[in-house]
Amino acid sequence: MIASVLPTYSRAPLTFTSGSGAWLTEADGRRFLDLGAGIAVNALGHAHPALVAALTAQAQSLWHVSNLYHIPAQQKLADLLVEHTFADTVFFTNSGTEACELAVKMARKYWYDKGQPDRTEIITFTGSFHGRSSAGIAAAGSEKMTKGFGPLLPGFTHLDFGDHDALTLAAARDNIAAIMVEPVQGEGGIRPLPDVCLKGLRDLCDRHGILMILDEVQCGMGRTGKLFAHEWAGITPDIMMVAKGIGGGFPLGAVLANENAASGMSAGTHGSTYGGNPLACAVGCAVMEIVADPAFLAEVNRKAGLLRQKLEGLVAAHPDVFVAVRGSGLMLGLKCKATNTDIVKAGYDQGVLTVPAADNVIRLLPPLTITDEEIGQAVARLDAVALHMQSEDA
Ligand SMILES: Cc1ncc(COP(=O)(O)O)c(C=O)c1O
Repeated sequence: MIASVLPTYSRAPLTFTSGSGAWLTEADGRRFLDLGAGIAVNALGHAHPALVAALTAQAQSLWHVSNLYHIPAQQKLADLLVEHTFADTVFFTNSGTEACELAVKMARKYWYDKGQPDRTEIITFTGSFHGRSSAGIAAAGSEKMTKGFGPLLPGFTHLDFGDHDALTLAAARDNIAAIMVEPVQGEGGIRPLPDVCLKGLRDLCDRHGILMILDEVQCGMGRTGKLFAHEWAGITPDIMMVAKGIGGGFPLGAVLANENAASGMSAGTHGSTYGGNPLACAVGCAVMEIVADPAFLAEVNRKAGLLRQKLEGLVAAHPDVFVAVRGSGLMLGLKCKATNTDIVKAGYDQGVLTVPAADNVIRLLPPLTITDEEIGQAVARLDAVALHMQSEDA
């Protein structure tokens, strides 16, 4: 008999009942150091007092009104995002996938309104992940996600990550509407796009008038030590997808855009019942007020340096288990020699949570509020995991 919850997830034998900061407590009382943070969602850890206060205050006055009316928390969050980013305008969604849907629609509508309705093709890259909707899986294009779900939404050109020649050729085609890319691939195995490549992509887009869509669903909101990862390269996109960390655990996403890219999205062209809901936006404002503070981001960078240095030591000490550290800020990956899912599982016995990714990588995406002491504990626990893996091998 099928499970009452559709069995699309393979779940670990763990049930968490509460969380505080970087820690989760299991139903049996065991405590786990959470280096997954809900896959980069709990940017401020679990039960952050400012977020709890924002959510409960909003819950006591108004949970939901539709977008038929003005929503002050939504306006405030949009103003904050516009103030701190390249964007002139923001549309709120409930998830990253929904942000992907709008990014695709916005790019195509832009060219339609410019009198080029055939300019619909979007260039994407192997190893990317943009969500599980029909547009999301068609955008990523991997067989694993698309098999059995055809016919796929047309209009995506998939290029090999790093194949500059193919990119130069494809971008010159007259039907290219946009290029969509993650500055740091998350699901793809923590693969950062070097700054020089991001700059090169921006130049290429400018040369051909192509819109640049950045997917910062996983790497945005302070995760790499800048508010958004593209800031390291000193470039700005035309459209950007955001989710995960922006709600700190409350479902919230957004599409940010400059005025030009958003010009086709007039009244009635897009909508969402829950997108920009008062509860979500009240929490989103509280997250933004903390994460956009330069002093907070400086701390993320300092702690990222500390974690990375300790992880380099871990890799050097266990060459049979780990191969290398990669990533940016507190979005780090350990490329493994042993099977990544075995390492994640071994972590359960040592009270440490990590997340597997493609390319035999485990992801470390701790809350941005993790302390130095917790970083020490995290690496000590990973060291115990590695010792266990070695003893299994012997
Ligand atoms: C880069 C990226 N884009 C889009 C998504 C989809 O976001 P969501 O799961 O919120 O729909 C994800 C989720 O992992 C992601 O990492």
